[in-house]
Amino acid sequence: MMNLQTQLAPCHKRGLLLQNPVVVASGTFGYGMDDSKITEVHNLGAITCKGTTLYPRIGNEQPRIMETASGMLNAIGLQNPGIHTVIEEYAPIWATWQTPVIVNIAGETLEEFVELASLLEGVDGVAAIEVNVSCPNVLAGGAAFGADAEKVAEVTSVVRRATTLPLIVKLSPNSGDVRPTALAAASSGADAVSLINTITGIGIDISKRRPTLANVTGGLSGPAIKPIALRMVYDVARELRLTYPRVPVIGIGGISNAIDALEFLMAGASAIQIGTVNFTNPRAGIEIVEGIEKFMQQERVESITELVGMAL
Ligand SMILES: Cc1cc2nc3c(=O)[nH]c(=O)nc-3n(C[C@H](O)[C@H](O)[C@H](O)COP(=O)(O)O)c2cc1C
Repeated sequence: MMNLQTQLAPCHKRGLLLQNPVVVASGTFGYGMDDSKITEVHNLGAITCKGTTLYPRIGNEQPRIMETASGMLNAIGLQNPGIHTVIEEYAPIWATWQTPVIVNIAGETLEEFVELASLLEGVDGVAAIEVNVSCPNVLAGGAAFGADAEKVAEVTSVVRRATTLPLIVKLSPNSGDVRPTALAAASSGADAVSLINTITGIGIDISKRRPTLANVTGGLSGPAIKPIALRMVYDVARELRLTYPRVPVIGIGGISNAIDALEFLMAGASAIQIGTVNFTNPRAGIEIVEGIEKFMQQERVESITELVGMAL
C-alpha cells in the first residue's frame, strides 16, 4: 500500500493532515462551488479558497487578465464576497466535505488580518488559514507587507495570537529572495509557509500605446514562472531544514502535471498547490494525484514523505 499522506502542521495540536499533497491554489478554484461539479474534489489533498477580505470587493477595472507566453498576467484585485458570506454560505457546505478547505485571507491592515482570523475561529468547515501577505494588486497592503521580513513577522504574530487554526503564511517572490520572509514567518508562529505568489509584470497594448491591464501591473503565473518558483522553494526548504525543520514548505508556481509536482516535492515541498492550470484543465489536480501514484508505484516508493527534499 502506498501512502500519499502529508502533514502540513506538525507543530499544531490538531495538525493539518492531507490525504495527498495536491492542493488547489487560491484564486483559481473560487470557493470550490462550481468546480466541485466538474472535478472530484474529494480526491484532492485540500482546497484553498479565493483571497477573502473583511468586506466584499468588486476588484479592479477591466481588462484585468491577459495571456502571456506560457502563462498569464492577472490584476483581479481581490474580487470576493467578503468574509461574512464565506462563513454563512460556503463554510456550511465545506463542513460536509471530506477534503479540508484552507481559507486564504487578505487584510489591508494588521487589524483587518486579526479580525478576519478571529471571525474564522470555531467555524465548521474551515481547516486552516492561509495568510496572503503577498497579493501584489492591493495598493493599501499586500505588496507592502509581503516584501518586508519585519512586516511578515508582525502580521504572522498577530494572526497567530488571533487563531487556534493551523496557520500557513503565503510568501511573495517579489523581493527576489524569499528566505528572509520565510524565516520571519517561521519564527513568528507559522505552521507552514507557501510560496510563491505571482511575480509582478506588465504588458503593453501596442495599438493603444498603453499598458494592457487597467491596473498597469499584474501578477505573472503559469509555466513561465516554474523554474523561478522551484529555485525559491529549494532555497527556502534548505534554509528551513536547518533552522525550522518542523515548518513545512508548500510549493506553488507553474505546476501543470505530475512531473512538475514531483520536482517541487524533491526540491523540499511537503505539498504543492496548482493554480493557473485549473483554468484550462479543472481536473489537473486529480490527474496529478494519479501521476504521482504511478511514479511511486514504478519507483517502489512507499510513502510520499520519502520524496520530500530528496534533491536538496
Ligand atoms: C486569476 C488569479 C487569481 C489569484 N488570486 C489569488 C488570491 O486571491 N490570493 C492568493 O494568495 N493568491 C492568488 N493567486 C495566486 C495563485 O494562488 C498562485 O500563487 C500563483 O498563481 C502561482 O501559481 P500558478 O503558476 O500555478 O498559477 C491568484 C492567481 C491567479 C492566476
